[in-house]
Amino acid sequence: MLHRHGQAVEAEKTPDTAHLREAGSPPPAPPCAMVIFGAAGDLTKRLVVPALCNLAQAGQLSGQFRLVGVDHNTGSAEKWREKLAAAMHDFVVQGGESNVNAVDQSAWRWLSERMSYLQGDVNDPGTYTRLRDHLAGLDKTATTAGNYLFYLAVADRFFAPAVAQLGAAGLATETERQWRRVVIEKPFGHGLLSAKALNAEILKTLKEHQIFRIDHFLGKETVQNIMALRFANGLFEPLWNRQQIDHVQVTVAETIGVEHRGKFYEKTGALRDMVPNHVLQLVAMTAMEPPISFDADAVRSKKTEVLQAIKPMDQAQALRDAVRGQYGGGTVVSQNLPPYRQEPYVEPNSTTETFVAWRFSIDNWRWAGVPFFIRTGKRLRRRSTEIAIRFRQAPFALFRGTQVGQMNPNWMILRIQPDEGIALEFAAKRPGPVVTLSNVSMDFAYKNYFKAAPNTGYETLIYDCMIGDATLFQRADTVEAGWQAVQPILDAWTDNSPSDFPNYAAGSDGPAAADELMARMGRMWRPLA
Ligand code: BG6
Repeated sequence: MLHRHGQAVEAEKTPDTAHLREAGSPPPAPPCAMVIFGAAGDLTKRLVVPALCNLAQAGQLSGQFRLVGVDHNTGSAEKWREKLAAAMHDFVVQGGESNVNAVDQSAWRWLSERMSYLQGDVNDPGTYTRLRDHLAGLDKTATTAGNYLFYLAVADRFFAPAVAQLGAAGLATETERQWRRVVIEKPFGHGLLSAKALNAEILKTLKEHQIFRIDHFLGKETVQNIMALRFANGLFEPLWNRQQIDHVQVTVAETIGVEHRGKFYEKTGALRDMVPNHVLQLVAMTAMEPPISFDADAVRSKKTEVLQAIKPMDQAQALRDAVRGQYGGGTVVSQNLPPYRQEPYVEPNSTTETFVAWRFSIDNWRWAGVPFFIRTGKRLRRRSTEIAIRFRQAPFALFRGTQVGQMNPNWMILRIQPDEGIALEFAAKRPGPVVTLSNVSMDFAYKNYFKAAPNTGYETLIYDCMIGDATLFQRADTVEAGWQAVQPILDAWTDNSPSDFPNYAAGSDGPAAADELMARMGRMWRPLA
């Protein structure tokens, strides 16, 4: 298989050999100091620091690596370490959908010896001058080479001010030998205008190559594998077009509710939270044209182009082609759960959607006439993220005079999570004298071929920032293309409040309106597998 960084990684030849092994491990990243703004926050303890531990365990951090936590809470390196250790322990014990596996203790010790803490407000210029002095001290003692990676794990209203302050303190200026990079989390804007404004603001201080806009779905191995499937195999590409494909379904179904994130979610909703970023990245990977190389800009240009080709909608079309839902009470995995409106920090008559389904077209030569359907929601029956490609039906004539009534369609299913793999569904003749057909599946499961390393999905992304590979990050125009595609729905929904919320039970497959959306086009959702 091709590796993005150009290495060839050999896969096991047959599953029977059962020699599971690690994927080829890249060399340690160059020395640097990584500064996390929002060091005491949820993202830091849940994903970023466990990912750093996994990178340390895999030998992918430089011996000169240093980690600086910045947060407005008073604290010390010692206290920060203790809190992180306790939090990581809890996440491992709780398990759940965050994929945090056991944290290796020696890796954690290695990392904690390299940690320091600086108390400071993101909006206070003094924070940045103290940080500059602190980093200069680290450069001397640890030879971090003056390379700095600033990770903004803070609320999005601080993104632009933090970047401006980094600039004012001289921390964003690169030299030939020293890089300065900034990782920006989501949400990147709340709509097209605010995303454009944020891009314009941060581009006053940083060059595009210094900005790493994270979409953590791109850190998932199975998402990256979509490109390998399509472009490292001769078999599929000839089928990947309007002549052979009937429609595409992308599902991102979660069983979790909004948890403790009610405040954030109330003003965000499922559409903003999931669609312009995660879901459309899956669509882009599936529908993009082949890039001329695996160079970051070559790949990102093709992804951006396909998002820009999503057909614009007027308000009436947006109201017809996009449906929303909100969960009521119900049972999920044998647990009785309250409706969204009774979750903490949620208004009792909230109109925020927790489910979206949308049908759209991609106006280009490859996809003209092929409907794309996406759905995503919380508190659904199963946790399942998959891309399902339905191929056109075979001509019927051959089976005249047999008992074959309805021919089943062929599907290719890319299972992103859980139970990562790829399945191809097709018809086979049942053994026996009479011609009848049965649907069968050819199934590839990652776990049968590759040994999974502990992974939060952030490891690849952080490593890539350190080596300066932006392939898996969103460029300014990619983010804007995502927002542009969904903006008509945001506008239509702002002007038209839903009247039927809650309209699906927790533990169900979503609202009836999502099925009707499909039925109108003569299609059906695949059951949540
Ligand atoms: C986040 C959303 O970006 O992605 C969450 O804010 C969502 O609402 C999460 O639950 C899903 O990511 P994953 O990796 O758990 O599938």
